[in-house]
Amino acid sequence: MDVDAISSPDPESDQELAFEGALRPKSLDEFVGQTKVRGQLELLLKAAAMQNRAPDHILLAGPPGLGKTTLAIIVALESGKPLRMSSGPAIQHAGDLAAVLSSLVPGEVLFIDEIHRMARSAEEMLYLAMEDFRIDIMVGKGAGATSIPLELAPFTLVGATTRAGLLPNPLRDRFGFTAHLEFYDEPELERVLARAADLLGLELSGDSRAEIARRSRGTPRIANRLLRRVRDYELVHGGGASVAAVQAALELYDVDPLGLDRLDRAVMHAVLMRFDGGPVGLNTLAVSVGEEAETIESVVEPFLVRIGLLTRTPRGRVASREAWKHFGLRPPAASGAQPGLFDDDL
Ligand SMILES: Nc1ncnc2c1ncn2[C@@H]1O[C@H](COP(=O)(O)OP(=O)(O)O)[C@@H](O)[C@H]1O
Ligand SMILES: [Mg+2]
Repeated sequence: MDVDAISSPDPESDQELAFEGALRPKSLDEFVGQTKVRGQLELLLKAAAMQNRAPDHILLAGPPGLGKTTLAIIVALESGKPLRMSSGPAIQHAGDLAAVLSSLVPGEVLFIDEIHRMARSAEEMLYLAMEDFRIDIMVGKGAGATSIPLELAPFTLVGATTRAGLLPNPLRDRFGFTAHLEFYDEPELERVLARAADLLGLELSGDSRAEIARRSRGTPRIANRLLRRVRDYELVHGGGASVAAVQAALELYDVDPLGLDRLDRAVMHAVLMRFDGGPVGLNTLAVSVGEEAETIESVVEPFLVRIGLLTRTPRGRVASREAWKHFGLRPPAASGAQPGLFDDDL
């Protein structure tokens, strides 16, 4: 893993995937935070079990690293059914989807990650499958082509997406339940860390936990990753995972006290320095940091907004007073962005 990637919300290597697997909660009870979503899922699964039917289709929406894959696995475990994992990018033709759907066993949980990236032709097949547990398979080509209906075993689709807004309405409407996952607050991240530290056999004081939680970008995946770096540091230097050790370890990996990653910092830097604090439009901002607008909107912005560094206005993105402070900068005296916004700071 390169240093820049330490706080990226996506898994960085096969090694990390294995590590994540080991730390994944295996039941709703073990799953930290997201209280509302957990309660809703619990009800949905219980009701289905009582009626002896497959639970409704579930859509999990939210930024990377908040627990979508984990919840999909939990849905299968809690309902005692097998789990089939697939992903939008792997379904490039309706035929790819037909192959998966036609081989499901009754009650199986089908997880489609990044479902917004599935091929359009497959989407249409999925509508019918979700609604009627049936698909039409095209046989032959041209004038002689016919469609043969195929009954499917009842299944539960769990879709995950970082971009719920990109899903076509007919697909979104066919999910019985949509869960929007939120960033975790610090006490919740501390619980994630306490659990992971236990599993790793690492002793971690409350203060050390808090220090890591503060820098975890509201994201359990990042919390666990930072914990791993702290464990490495402790292994090499000894002396326990003290707050000083945590700070030294995280400084070594260039994790900022707010947990901002390279891209977060690049975006804030552009808004502050290049656009005088904004307002700046999404596309302009994306071009100026050399990223896709989609990534900025679905991965970077939600966190910056959540911690109050950035606000979205009808005219574009605007840096908050906190943002100027955090980067040790002075807001321009005549900030054309939002007259009066910074007055009491001068
Ligand atoms: N609520 C949670 N409680 C404890 N650990 C969590 C929670 N959510 C996520 N994690 C941990 O974070 C890591 C990433 O979660 P994952 O489900 O893969 O995120 P996503 O699929 O949304 O990107 C997993 O290793 C998991 O152990
Ligand atoms: Mg995932």
